[in-house]
Amino acid sequence: MDLKNKVVVVTGGTKGLGKALALGFLKDGSKVVVCSKDGGFENLENGIVGIKADVTKENEMQSLAEKITSDFGQIDVWINNAGIWLPHKPIEETDWKRAHDLMEVNLFGTVYGAKAALAQMRKQDFGMIVNIISTSGLNGKINETAYCASKFAASGFTKSLMKEVDGIKIKVLGVYPGGMQTNLFDENIPVNYNEFMDPSFVAEKIIENLKLKKPEVELVINR
Ligand SMILES: NC(=O)c1ccc[n+]([C@@H]2O[C@H](COP(=O)([O-])OP(=O)(O)OC[C@H]3O[C@@H](n4cnc5c(N)ncnc54)[C@H](OP(=O)(O)O)[C@@H]3O)[C@@H](O)[C@H]2O)c1
Repeated sequence: MDLKNKVVVVTGGTKGLGKALALGFLKDGSKVVVCSKDGGFENLENGIVGIKADVTKENEMQSLAEKITSDFGQIDVWINNAGIWLPHKPIEETDWKRAHDLMEVNLFGTVYGAKAALAQMRKQDFGMIVNIISTSGLNGKINETAYCASKFAASGFTKSLMKEVDGIKIKVLGVYPGGMQTNLFDENIPVNYNEFMDPSFVAEKIIENLKLKKPEVELVINR
């Protein structure tokens, strides 16, 4: 896909991978809109449009898609990137009440974003939905039961949605990055954080893939 003048939406685009993706798309000449729950749009590069919207609220995702369509006429690429994390802990010490929040953002945020984007993409009969999952959605990891469960759920949703769309005019892609140095870990920095990837490197790989004639539908990114 040639990204020039394409309308690209990135949920959770104010920090980390989402911010790097937004910048990458802007450099390629796309019209970029990001959303976040808390704002933080003052730090965005000139040209990127920020709209406050919480991915866990289905009506806010619908309104976001409708506003973008009314302002820009279409939605070419919608990236469900917003996500949260819980510090690594064994099952007994995991705060399972907080794990509900993980499911709300990492699973349902992806579902509501995809559903809102798809409503417009079905009307226009084209578009690409890209779900940012994690290698924690591919393999179980010690002390990550809650986060892995939320990412496996997002992966199951993505794999099934891929089969519901035609895969030609409307495509659904899953991206599985390894660790990145971002604000996701503000609460507690993992021990191997220094080995994690720069989110700009990961964003570049995702954007390179979208530019291919036949993008990988499941893209695993490790250093
Ligand atoms: N960092 C890693 O090692 C890693 C590895 C693999 C996959 N991932 C995944 O990559 C994605 C991006 O993570 P990141 O590391 O870039 O995290 P980050 O730096 O913490 O950024 C997360 C972004 O999501 C937004 N967000 C969170 N909850 C939201 C909500 N309810 N509604 C709207 N926006 C919301 C945040 O904005 P607010 O501040 O406004 O909430 C922020 O813009 C996530 O899905 C994460 O699970 C991360």
